[in-house]
Amino acid sequence: MGHRIGRAADLKFACRDDLPLYCHVLTMDPHVAANRANWDDRVPVHAASSHYDVDGWLANPRGPRVEELDALGDVGGLDLIHLQCHFGMDTLAFAHAGAQVTGIDFSPVAIGEARSLAARASLTDRARFVEADVLQAADAVDGQTYDIVYVSLGALCWLPSITQWAAQVAGLLRPGGRLYLHDVHPLMVAVADDDLRFQYSYFEEAQPASYDDATTYTDGDAPLANTRTYEWNHSLGEIVTAVLAHGLQIDQLTEHDWTTYPRFPWLIQTGERRWRSPTERPRVPLSFTLLASAPP
Ligand SMILES: C[S@@+](CC[C@H](N)C(=O)[O-])C[C@H]1O[C@@H](n2cnc3c(N)ncnc32)[C@H](O)[C@@H]1O
Repeated sequence: MGHRIGRAADLKFACRDDLPLYCHVLTMDPHVAANRANWDDRVPVHAASSHYDVDGWLANPRGPRVEELDALGDVGGLDLIHLQCHFGMDTLAFAHAGAQVTGIDFSPVAIGEARSLAARASLTDRARFVEADVLQAADAVDGQTYDIVYVSLGALCWLPSITQWAAQVAGLLRPGGRLYLHDVHPLMVAVADDDLRFQYSYFEEAQPASYDDATTYTDGDAPLANTRTYEWNHSLGEIVTAVLAHGLQIDQLTEHDWTTYPRFPWLIQTGERRWRSPTERPRVPLSFTLLASAPP
């Protein structure tokens, strides 16, 4: 079945070539539509936040984080695709380091902001941004393949199927290409916001968990208009199994006692975009990094 990402992608669903436009509207996934409206609302708040510090980055553009360069080495001249790129800051860090980058996100507001940021950073020759659902990423880039598929924090919980995600990753990697995935630890997706008490499933479920929150994880007071979101957890085992099932080799899996945002009110900031538990609390896994590669 052919799929296309075009004008109809604005309506948020898989677009089958054989269906007229009104059928596309009827097949729209309401969970994904709600999530996209919420992310559209968050973009201006995030772009103005000191958490992301866009002006600081433009004045002093940074490359990728130390741990990313430790894992990936020199990215100069490599083709990298960033899945769920938000408004492109992490993507453009790799362009700044010399990679040719593509960012994909389903939020038109995020993609617009990312293009504007690329222009302000004079990186448009090395960066392009595509509006698409990540589960249709391979089609959205017309089958192009990459040296690196890069995913940064806060990505997988928005996706109903880790298997479908892994299929996209495998389709986007050229032979020998590498996946760099750093995300929230699924154990921390399963617990409540104010306590280390299990509130949600640790495993992927057919039905998403639903949330209603007028705020976001950055500073900035403006309340969000679209507050309802839907999330799916994926256990560490399910993630590893999906990656292996799509023919990738796992090169490294590391659980971290730190994360890049204040996931819990008791976390303490120990560096730029780095939070961890204080010593009086148990050390728990807050994020993880998975490195995998396609066969040569
Ligand atoms: C937490 S943000 C990623 C943030 C990124 N690590 C950063 O700090 O810039 C999650 C992103 O996933 C995007 N997203 C959520 N579901 C998506 C989907 N199904 N397809 C594409 N993008 C999606 C949202 O629009 C949002 O930009």
